[in-house]
Amino acid sequence: MDDIATVLYTEEQIQHRVRELGEEVTQAYTGRSPVLISVLKGGVMFLADLTRAIDLQLRVDFMSISRYGGSSSGIVRVLKDLDQDVGGEDVLVVEDIIDTGLTLSYLLNTLWARDPASIRVCTLLDKSVRRIAPLDIPFRGFDCPDRFVVGYGLDHGERYRNLPFILAVQDQEELEANPDALVGFLGAHAEGPA
Ligand code: IMP
Ligand code: MG
Repeated sequence: MDDIATVLYTEEQIQHRVRELGEEVTQAYTGRSPVLISVLKGGVMFLADLTRAIDLQLRVDFMSISRYGGSSSGIVRVLKDLDQDVGGEDVLVVEDIIDTGLTLSYLLNTLWARDPASIRVCTLLDKSVRRIAPLDIPFRGFDCPDRFVVGYGLDHGERYRNLPFILAVQDQEELEANPDALVGFLGAHAEGPA
């Protein structure tokens, strides 16, 4: 199992960084009430923890999108739109990970068309070396190495979102061949990750 994936960020590191981000967001939006928008499903764990680290009146809303035309395309379909209008609002898009940035660029364009007062981005992980679409990211948890990661909302074929820590996959071929290969990590929070 350890040769297929290793712990990249422990639960403690994540929770510590999320609290810091919550303070940064609180400072940046003093006197305002941002709308935090989470992109389903990967961003929900981060959103849930981040909101509790922000000392402001805020709203949350959700969008679900899917990419099609291949993983390197920026073509996105909206599967679930926001419940509320964001016209005139301060929007904070909360993402689990930004990789090429194509998905987020598309999303930002559709959000700007709704005339919000502002839009800023908060991502837990930034795979900055993979960026294709240039993006300004004022709030970022970790600059992530160019590795496939799972846990804390991030999935591999819908698995492993419920890990409280984040794993970097070493042997992606082995994981493709056996999607349950990392199941042993699911109980690991009892002892804490390595
Ligand atoms: P982008 O359009 O290339 O920036 O794609 C970002 C999306 O791809 C994220 O919201 C994730 O859903 C997914 N993604 C990118 N890298 C990873 C990874 O390492 N693990 C799991 N999902 C990933
Ligand atoms: Mg995502």
